[in-house]
Amino acid sequence: MNILITGSNGQLGSEIKLIVNELNLTNYIFTDIETLDICNKVDVSSFIANNEIDFVINCAAYTNVDGAETDKINAEKINILGPLVLAETTKERNIPIIHVSTDYVYDSVSQNTPFKETDNTKPQSVYGVTKLQGEKEIQKNSKHIIIRTSWLYSSFGNNFVKSMIKYAEERNSLNIVFDQVGTPTNAADLASAILKITISYTENNASFKSGIYNYSNEGVCSWYDFTKEIVFLTNKSCEILPIETVDYPTPAKRPAYSVMNKTKIKQAYNIEIPHWKESLIKFLQKNK
Ligand SMILES: NC(=O)c1ccc[n+]([C@@H]2O[C@H](COP(=O)([O-])OP(=O)(O)OC[C@H]3O[C@@H](n4cnc5c(N)ncnc54)[C@H](OP(=O)(O)O)[C@@H]3O)[C@@H](O)[C@H]2O)c1
Repeated sequence: MNILITGSNGQLGSEIKLIVNELNLTNYIFTDIETLDICNKVDVSSFIANNEIDFVINCAAYTNVDGAETDKINAEKINILGPLVLAETTKERNIPIIHVSTDYVYDSVSQNTPFKETDNTKPQSVYGVTKLQGEKEIQKNSKHIIIRTSWLYSSFGNNFVKSMIKYAEERNSLNIVFDQVGTPTNAADLASAILKITISYTENNASFKSGIYNYSNEGVCSWYDFTKEIVFLTNKSCEILPIETVDYPTPAKRPAYSVMNKTKIKQAYNIEIPHWKESLIKFLQKNK
């Protein structure tokens, strides 16, 4: 079976590529916007037909959360039209799709216990609204898996962990919000989970269990706790000071609470999820 990965130059797509190369899997085709724009229906249809694609993993997205507040047109195009094109094309050919979404779709104002996939949605930002609508487009193909993830970091691209390592080296102290809690996700762990689901279907004939699934690392922390751990593990002397969100205004509103319950994906696909601290240690060892 041939597997197409879209948006594969980003954090998650690059981690998938790394594992696929390590495993010497040859039936994976990696694309990004220069090779395959997910918003272009004609191109997506002919690419899938010409390459005899049997399975799609969509890692393409507009992920600039603050940028989306003023660049709504592009955020909507990539996060809504793109998933619509992919859903229609995969449905026409009766092939499954794995799509990645976000914890920002949940109703974090009314709830402060870990979100289950069936809990209410109520995004607070343009990015969250577009990602929720994108999920609805993906559901037009009944053979879909939507994975909601949070606080993604990886060896590739820009992310919070890399920024904190850099700032902690340059500055004596850093002010970090302590009143937003959630769970970091090492993109390498998410990539492994996605490949486990993919391989179980494409190589082992396991059934494809459509639906929405949460995935982050285990545990809970604030951005302040996360930064304290990054600085501690990298032996930096920078002091980390807790501040409130009101003292660090951003264009897009961030959820104060965004912890997810991962029971569904663990049970459905027999996936073991590492604690965020273990995964951070693994990441730092790999990226010394
Ligand atoms: N990052 C996070 O903290 C986070 C948290 C929760 C959920 N997520 C979700 O997780 C998924 C993966 O995120 P990520 O951090 O790996 O994203 P990323 O690093 O921003 O990668 C997205 C990739 O998609 C590409 N792309 C953009 N428009 C495209 C188009 N029209 N056609 C094809 N490719 C296109 C981007 O190219 P350019 O760079 O050239 O635009 C980029 O290479 C996304 O669905 C995101 O919403 C991310």
